[in-house]
Amino acid sequence: MSKASKDNKQAKRKSLISVPMVALTILAAAGLATGGWLALQSPEQDPLATQTIVMEVGDQRTLETALSNAFTVTASLDGAATIAEDTYLITANAVGQSTILAKDSVTGEEQLFYVNVVADRNTAAGTNANSDDTTTTSTTSSAATTTTTTESTTEGTTTTVSLPPGSVTGIELTFYNVNLAIGQSKMPIVTMLPSDATDKSEKWTTTDEAVATVDELGNITAVGAGTCTVRVTSVNNPAVYAEVTVTVKDPNGSSTGQANITTSNGVTFVDGILIANKTYGLPASYAPGVNADAKAAFERMQTAAAMEMMTLTIVSSYRSYETQQILYERYCNRDGQAAADRYSARPGHSEHQTGLAFDINNASSSFDDTPEAQWLAENCWRYGFIIRYPEGKEDVTGYQYESWHIRYLGEEKARAVYESGLTLEEYLGITSEYAS
Ligand code: DAL
Ligand code: ZN
Repeated sequence: MSKASKDNKQAKRKSLISVPMVALTILAAAGLATGGWLALQSPEQDPLATQTIVMEVGDQRTLETALSNAFTVTASLDGAATIAEDTYLITANAVGQSTILAKDSVTGEEQLFYVNVVADRNTAAGTNANSDDTTTTSTTSSAATTTTTTESTTEGTTTTVSLPPGSVTGIELTFYNVNLAIGQSKMPIVTMLPSDATDKSEKWTTTDEAVATVDELGNITAVGAGTCTVRVTSVNNPAVYAEVTVTVKDPNGSSTGQANITTSNGVTFVDGILIANKTYGLPASYAPGVNADAKAAFERMQTAAAMEMMTLTIVSSYRSYETQQILYERYCNRDGQAAADRYSARPGHSEHQTGLAFDINNASSSFDDTPEAQWLAENCWRYGFIIRYPEGKEDVTGYQYESWHIRYLGEEKARAVYESGLTLEEYLGITSEYAS
């Protein structure tokens, strides 16, 4: 598979899963109350139907769809609600909004759900505060073209809202977190959903112009140390937005975004993450073996991959200082030191010595274009791993692209790094260069 088609496929997949949303119930209520744009659609047009599921933090319920066949589910990255891909069990984790896209495995038909997680369902907007646990109410607008149905059960409240055809229902960005140095700029690529939305214009705002500015195209520029939120809102449907958390580092080292570097028994931690790279080495005596959490996370990932007919096997995990020394010397003898330094760590500098890194299936470039490599790139963050040496980043990580080498960070950190679109060095603001 070519890189272009891989990128395209990845972008397409991401567009299905990354849509922070607000409660469409509020939108519907506004439209119905004012007789506004919801009444403008012509009756013969098929409105775009979405479903909003309201859940309280801690609730669990099984997703029900109108799809006729087995379906796959993908949830947005915000984490307010998550869904088990095998049982379709939704768990409400924290107050916020998530989206879940269900896709019929046979027909490809898609159904989009907005999961609004609230602290108290009875006081949440869009729910029927007066209903008891078994009440069903239904409201039809005067134009007879828009229907809102609210159904409360012991499991939660479901509200179906119809929007005019062509409405924007979600926004996807290529990243949701970014670390920048003062003066640096980065622009996320925006996808308004659905693809046939008629008005895709966007409005950009920042919560703190002293930290980062944003222009009308979404180009974010770091101005001063600190953290702020940049938001893109749909002009067509202002209830829909997506946000980027921007962290700006202070070059003098005293700001919010500055890496906190500590050492313990010769091992370096940057913002709590154990680092082994060309700049930060490990003592020869550091011999922790395979990390148990990383191993368990790999096994969960292996099981999930197997359900999608992907076979993932560890071909190299923990390597002692001595083992790395033997490998590195062999590579130097074969290819010369300059070449070896591009793909093999010197003893004391390999992530494999941390017990937190694994090579998957085949530690060679012939792994790059396999479905397993693509699956790993798209999914390993869900299990706490990152692709440690991404393509085109040798000048930053110090190593050529390794599609097979994953590093365990834990789910929260792996997700943040994945969403940032940065290498670990860029994310932490550190270098990877040998002193000599
Ligand atoms: N191949 C990676 C960089 C290592 O030797 O640890
Ligand atoms: Zn490796």
